[in-house]
Amino acid sequence: NEEKSVYELLGEKRLENVIHRFYSHVEVHPELAPIFPEDLTETKRKQIQFLTQFFGGPALYTEEHGHPMLRARHMPFPITAERRDAWLSCMGQALVEEEIEEPLRNRMFARLAKTADHMVNTSTEAG
Ligand code: HEM
Repeated sequence: NEEKSVYELLGEKRLENVIHRFYSHVEVHPELAPIFPEDLTETKRKQIQFLTQFFGGPALYTEEHGHPMLRARHMPFPITAERRDAWLSCMGQALVEEEIEEPLRNRMFARLAKTADHMVNTSTEAG
Protein backbone atom coordinates (compact mmCIF):
# COMPACT_ATOMS: atom_id res chain seq x y z
CA ASN A 1 0.00 0.00 0.00
CA GLU A 2 2.96 2.34 0.49
CA GLU A 3 3.43 2.28 -3.31
CA LYS A 4 -0.01 3.83 -3.72
CA SER A 5 -0.22 7.50 -2.89
CA VAL A 6 -2.44 8.76 -0.10
CA TYR A 7 -4.43 10.57 -2.79
CA GLU A 8 -5.12 7.30 -4.64
CA LEU A 9 -6.12 5.48 -1.47
CA LEU A 10 -8.28 8.31 -0.19
CA GLY A 11 -9.92 9.64 -3.35
CA GLU A 12 -10.90 13.18 -4.28
CA LYS A 13 -14.28 13.18 -2.53
CA ARG A 14 -13.00 12.02 0.86
CA LEU A 15 -10.12 14.50 0.72
CA GLU A 16 -12.62 17.32 0.16
CA ASN A 17 -14.83 16.07 2.97
CA VAL A 18 -11.89 15.96 5.39
CA ILE A 19 -10.92 19.54 4.49
CA HIS A 20 -14.46 20.86 4.94
CA ARG A 21 -14.70 19.18 8.35
CA PHE A 22 -11.25 20.47 9.28
CA TYR A 23 -12.26 24.11 8.66
CA SER A 24 -15.55 23.65 10.51
CA HIS A 25 -13.36 23.01 13.58
CA VAL A 26 -10.83 25.75 12.78
CA GLU A 27 -13.53 28.41 12.50
CA VAL A 28 -14.75 27.81 16.05
CA HIS A 29 -11.36 27.16 17.66
CA PRO A 30 -10.44 29.96 20.09
CA GLU A 31 -6.69 29.82 19.18
CA LEU A 32 -7.17 29.51 15.42
CA ALA A 33 -10.29 31.44 14.42
CA PRO A 34 -8.70 34.87 15.13
CA ILE A 35 -5.88 34.38 12.57
CA PHE A 36 -8.08 33.01 9.77
CA PRO A 37 -10.29 35.06 7.44
CA GLU A 38 -13.97 35.15 8.33
CA ASP A 39 -14.93 33.77 4.94
CA LEU A 40 -13.06 30.50 4.48
CA THR A 41 -14.27 29.79 0.92
CA GLU A 42 -10.99 30.70 -0.75
CA THR A 43 -8.91 29.16 2.05
CA LYS A 44 -10.70 25.83 1.56
CA ARG A 45 -10.28 25.98 -2.21
CA LYS A 46 -6.52 26.52 -1.86
CA GLN A 47 -6.19 23.81 0.78
CA ILE A 48 -7.96 21.30 -1.47
CA GLN A 49 -5.53 22.19 -4.25
CA PHE A 50 -2.55 21.98 -1.92
CA LEU A 51 -3.37 18.73 -0.14
CA THR A 52 -4.23 17.09 -3.45
CA GLN A 53 -0.65 17.58 -4.58
CA PHE A 54 0.88 17.09 -1.11
CA PHE A 55 -0.67 13.61 -1.02
CA GLY A 56 0.48 12.61 -4.49
CA GLY A 57 -2.35 13.79 -6.74
CA PRO A 58 -2.20 16.34 -9.59
CA ALA A 59 -0.22 19.55 -8.91
CA LEU A 60 -3.32 21.76 -8.69
CA TYR A 61 -1.86 24.25 -6.22
CA THR A 62 1.36 24.87 -8.15
CA GLU A 63 -0.53 25.23 -11.44
CA GLU A 64 -2.49 28.18 -10.07
CA HIS A 65 -0.24 29.70 -7.39
CA GLY A 66 3.33 28.64 -8.20
CA HIS A 67 5.73 27.07 -5.72
CA PRO A 68 3.93 26.53 -2.39
CA MET A 69 6.72 28.08 -0.21
CA LEU A 70 4.50 27.04 2.65
CA ARG A 71 6.61 28.34 5.51
CA ALA A 72 7.03 31.73 3.82
CA ARG A 73 3.28 32.00 3.14
CA HIS A 74 2.63 31.40 6.84
CA MET A 75 5.06 34.07 8.08
CA PRO A 76 2.34 36.78 8.30
CA PHE A 77 0.62 34.66 10.96
CA PRO A 78 2.06 34.08 14.45
CA ILE A 79 2.19 30.29 14.60
CA THR A 80 3.08 29.09 18.08
CA ALA A 81 3.47 25.48 19.22
CA GLU A 82 0.00 25.84 20.75
CA ARG A 83 -1.49 26.80 17.38
CA ARG A 84 0.32 23.92 15.70
CA ASP A 85 -1.21 21.52 18.23
CA ALA A 86 -4.63 23.12 17.73
CA TRP A 87 -4.32 22.81 13.92
CA LEU A 88 -3.37 19.14 14.26
CA SER A 89 -6.17 18.48 16.72
CA CYS A 90 -8.74 19.94 14.25
CA MET A 91 -7.26 17.74 11.52
CA GLY A 92 -7.19 14.65 13.76
CA GLN A 93 -10.89 15.14 14.55
CA ALA A 94 -11.72 15.58 10.86
CA LEU A 95 -9.93 12.33 9.95
CA VAL A 96 -11.77 10.39 12.67
CA GLU A 97 -15.17 11.89 11.82
CA GLU A 98 -14.70 11.12 8.14
CA GLU A 99 -13.85 7.54 9.25
CA ILE A 100 -10.54 7.37 7.42
CA GLU A 101 -9.30 3.84 7.99
CA GLU A 102 -5.97 2.79 9.49
CA PRO A 103 -3.19 2.69 8.48
CA LEU A 104 -4.14 5.44 6.01
CA ARG A 105 -5.24 7.82 8.75
CA ASN A 106 -1.96 7.50 10.61
CA ARG A 107 0.05 7.90 7.43
CA MET A 108 -1.79 11.15 6.66
CA PHE A 109 -1.55 12.49 10.19
CA ALA A 110 2.18 11.78 10.45
CA ARG A 111 2.93 13.67 7.23
CA LEU A 112 0.76 16.61 8.25
CA ALA A 113 2.34 16.72 11.71
CA LYS A 114 5.81 16.97 10.18
CA THR A 115 4.77 19.88 7.99
CA ALA A 116 2.86 21.56 10.82
CA ASP A 117 6.02 21.44 12.96
CA HIS A 118 7.87 23.25 10.21
CA MET A 119 5.26 26.08 10.20
CA VAL A 120 5.96 27.14 13.80
CA ASN A 121 7.47 30.64 13.52
CA THR A 122 6.73 32.27 16.87
CA SER A 123 7.84 31.28 20.35
CA THR A 124 5.19 31.20 23.05
CA GLU A 125 7.00 33.98 25.01
CA ALA A 126 6.99 36.30 22.01
CA GLY A 127 3.51 35.50 20.77
C1 HEM B 1 -2.91 29.21 4.71
C2 HEM B 1 -2.62 28.88 9.52
C3 HEM B 1 -0.37 24.62 9.10
C4 HEM B 1 -1.36 24.67 4.39
C5 HEM B 1 -3.00 29.49 6.05
C6 HEM B 1 -3.57 30.70 6.60
C7 HEM B 1 -3.48 30.61 7.93
C8 HEM B 1 -2.87 29.35 8.26
C9 HEM B 1 -3.94 31.65 8.95
C10 HEM B 1 -4.13 31.87 5.77
C11 HEM B 1 -5.53 31.55 5.33
C12 HEM B 1 -6.00 32.50 4.26
O1 HEM B 1 -5.56 33.66 4.23
O2 HEM B 1 -6.83 32.09 3.45
C13 HEM B 1 -1.97 27.71 9.83
C14 HEM B 1 -1.62 27.28 11.17
C15 HEM B 1 -0.95 26.11 11.06
C16 HEM B 1 -0.90 25.77 9.63
C17 HEM B 1 -1.93 28.01 12.47
C18 HEM B 1 -0.38 25.33 12.22
C19 HEM B 1 0.77 24.69 12.16
C20 HEM B 1 -0.50 24.23 7.79
C21 HEM B 1 -0.11 22.94 7.28
C22 HEM B 1 -0.40 22.96 5.95
C23 HEM B 1 -0.95 24.26 5.63
C24 HEM B 1 0.47 21.82 8.12
C25 HEM B 1 -0.23 21.90 4.91
C26 HEM B 1 0.05 20.63 5.15
C27 HEM B 1 -1.81 25.92 4.05
C28 HEM B 1 -2.09 26.36 2.70
C29 HEM B 1 -2.52 27.69 2.79
C30 HEM B 1 -2.52 28.01 4.21
C31 HEM B 1 -1.92 25.56 1.42
C32 HEM B 1 -2.90 28.62 1.64
C33 HEM B 1 -1.66 29.40 1.22
C34 HEM B 1 -2.00 30.44 0.17
O3 HEM B 1 -2.42 31.54 0.53
O4 HEM B 1 -1.87 30.14 -1.03
N1 HEM B 1 -2.60 28.69 7.07
N2 HEM B 1 -1.53 26.77 8.93
N3 HEM B 1 -1.00 25.00 6.78
N4 HEM B 1 -2.08 26.93 4.92
FE1 HEM B 1 -1.80 26.86 6.90
